Amino acid sequence: MLMNEDQEENRIVNPEELKKDEAFDLSLRPKNLKEFVGQQKIKNNLQIFMDAAKGRGEPIEHVLLYGPPGLGKTSLAHIMASEMGVNIRVTSGPALERSGDLAAILTNLEDGDILFIDEIHRMNKVIEEILYPAMEDYALDIVIGKGPSARTLRLDLPRFTIVGATTKVSMLSSPFRDRFGNIYHLNFYNENEISQVIERAAKILKINIALAAAGKIAARSRKTPRIANRLLKRVRDFAQIKTAGLVNDESTEKALDMLDIDKFGLDEIDRIILETIITKFNGGPVGLNTIAAATGEDMATIEDVYEPFLIQIGFLKRTPKGRVATEAAYEHLGLKNSKNQNKLL
Ligand SMILES: Nc1ncnc2c1ncn2[C@@H]1O[C@H](COP(=O)(O)OP(=O)(O)OP(=O)(O)O)[C@@H](O)[C@H]1O
Ligand SMILES: [Mg+2]
Repeated sequence: MLMNEDQEENRIVNPEELKKDEAFDLSLRPKNLKEFVGQQKIKNNLQIFMDAAKGRGEPIEHVLLYGPPGLGKTSLAHIMASEMGVNIRVTSGPALERSGDLAAILTNLEDGDILFIDEIHRMNKVIEEILYPAMEDYALDIVIGKGPSARTLRLDLPRFTIVGATTKVSMLSSPFRDRFGNIYHLNFYNENEISQVIERAAKILKINIALAAAGKIAARSRKTPRIANRLLKRVRDFAQIKTAGLVNDESTEKALDMLDIDKFGLDEIDRIILETIITKFNGGPVGLNTIAAATGEDMATIEDVYEPFLIQIGFLKRTPKGRVATEAAYEHLGLKNSKNQNKLL
């Protein structure tokens, strides 16, 4: 059951940004470091190096942000620009196809500006190599002419900062990675932090929410702010119809059950993946491509979207031989682990 675009769009616990999230994400996006919940170490670091750069009147060093979708990479890039009082120009790896496009963007920047490159792992190699001198020396090498008469012209660029974001840092070449002075890994949030994200969003959206209800939504949000905000919105809709707009314990529970998200935030597809590994492959190890074929899911989607969270909550393990379902996964799905029986005999 390969998900088509409509199904992806409707999957409530999809951590990726969906079309209908855009306006919503924008209104809820934290505007400064203070409003940005959690990730304390990253915030401390950013604060120090931004203050230091400001003190020296220099642009900040290039920053690479990586981590699963929906944890706040884009938000942080915008926060850096506003805290530094500079413009931010937004593009993405796949959008930078020709060297001319990149040259046009770079030469139009002003001193100190931030160039945000989303999905930076999907940038092509030629563009990447043009970026090297741009990042190191604020210079652009342009080749003029062809053959023996070709020569290189060096163009000075404004002193700018690249903020790159990626869900797949391993796909960046190491010379490229080395050119980022600051590399930060965004991690999943704890439940208390997700509750804070929900309370903040409720305030902005003027939703009347009970504390316990925020905790309930947090528990099923896959430790991901984007999903927390999306669930809050769905719970609000439910409460508006059923409990005169009050988001309390009961309406929250009912709304979340209706969405078929269990108490760990797993939806049907997560469960199918785990069940497949357990029932068809005796718990694994089994290769990603085999799981993809058996569940009808796309391999990249399993790897980028489902797996990180299943691994994070300890239901799945990556081993050199393949994926393995853990004892906790058996327990959660109410399935018996026959390997354990063997051990007892
Ligand atoms: N630390 C946070 N505090 C409050 N809200 C947050 C935080 N992180 C993310 N959010 C909320 O989640 C939404 C998604 O975050 P953002 O777009 O920055 O994620 P991302 O890491 O860039 O995701 P992707 O990998 O899909 O691009 C934001 O619009 C914001 O509402
Ligand atoms: Mg983003």
